[in-house]
Amino acid sequence: MDVREALLDTTARLTQAGIPDARIDAEYLVAAASGIPRTRMLIKLDRALSLDGEILLRQWTIERLERRPLAYVLGEQPFLDLTLRVNPSVLIPRPETELVVEEACRILGRMDRAVVVDVGTGSGNIALSLANHEQAAEVHAIDISPAALGVARENALRNAVKKPIRWHQGDLLSPLIPLGVRADLIVANLPYVRRDELPALAPEVRWEPVLALDGGRDGLAYIFQLLDQASYVLKRGGVLLLEIGADQGPAVLSRVTSKPWKNAELYSDLAGLPRIVKAQSAAQSLADPPEPQWRKGNTRWIS
Ligand SMILES: C[S@@+](CC[C@H](N)C(=O)[O-])C[C@H]1O[C@@H](n2cnc3c(N)ncnc32)[C@H](O)[C@@H]1O
Repeated sequence: MDVREALLDTTARLTQAGIPDARIDAEYLVAAASGIPRTRMLIKLDRALSLDGEILLRQWTIERLERRPLAYVLGEQPFLDLTLRVNPSVLIPRPETELVVEEACRILGRMDRAVVVDVGTGSGNIALSLANHEQAAEVHAIDISPAALGVARENALRNAVKKPIRWHQGDLLSPLIPLGVRADLIVANLPYVRRDELPALAPEVRWEPVLALDGGRDGLAYIFQLLDQASYVLKRGGVLLLEIGADQGPAVLSRVTSKPWKNAELYSDLAGLPRIVKAQSAAQSLADPPEPQWRKGNTRWIS
């Protein structure tokens, strides 16, 4: 079978099964099975697939017909300049999260040697991207799922991330509190789908971990818990950046427009939907030590 036949056959089978974007998926599958980059495939239409390539293509097409997401079939997903290994223990990173990382990088660019925390790290997409930023001095990544942390650690190795990341298994920020970590920037893409909306999600999304999707009855359970915990970890003036569901802007914004928050802002994605909330801590961190005495007029540092 050559590339032309493989493309026509795979596209036809996926189209017949009602797979959205069947032609594009077929191109990715044939590219991976033939070893020819997708962008060069159209000038290599007469190239024959190897026997192994044909077997792989047949297997992958069956998996895709079962509505397994393309990223899980191929085992990887691009995210900004990273290529991430993904499997059903981690959410497949989405383009809107790239916007969160771009905003986080803008914020980091105005900081100096920042302590950064990624809550709900999943595949590690956010933590890895921020660990490559020159102003990130220390990066902590937390997930409640040990399997997700395993994938994220492997991704850090595969992508030769510039700075070491400290991995923590546990609930939201709780692993950091006993360690006394105090952050300049907390970024989080937590589960935010309303529980009653889960059954109506696209068949592909149902392959993704419920732990990464289920945000409780109103979708806001984890986000609101994180807002409550953040004052124990954020430094005064530190920034919290959250990805939220498109209809959650007003509810989240109303929680960060009063103390202990200031400068709350909502950012929209490329479709004009509000998907990112930013807020700055106005309070002395609950974990902050008392003000040093020298700032109060003494010449000696005594605390
Ligand atoms: C929406 S996914 C985001 C994954 C990744 N950060 C991304 O942007 O693609 C949410 C992640 O939060 C993790 N998670 C769920 N509940 C958690 C909790 N209570 N504490 C820490 N992590 C949690 C899930 O295991 C999942 O990896």
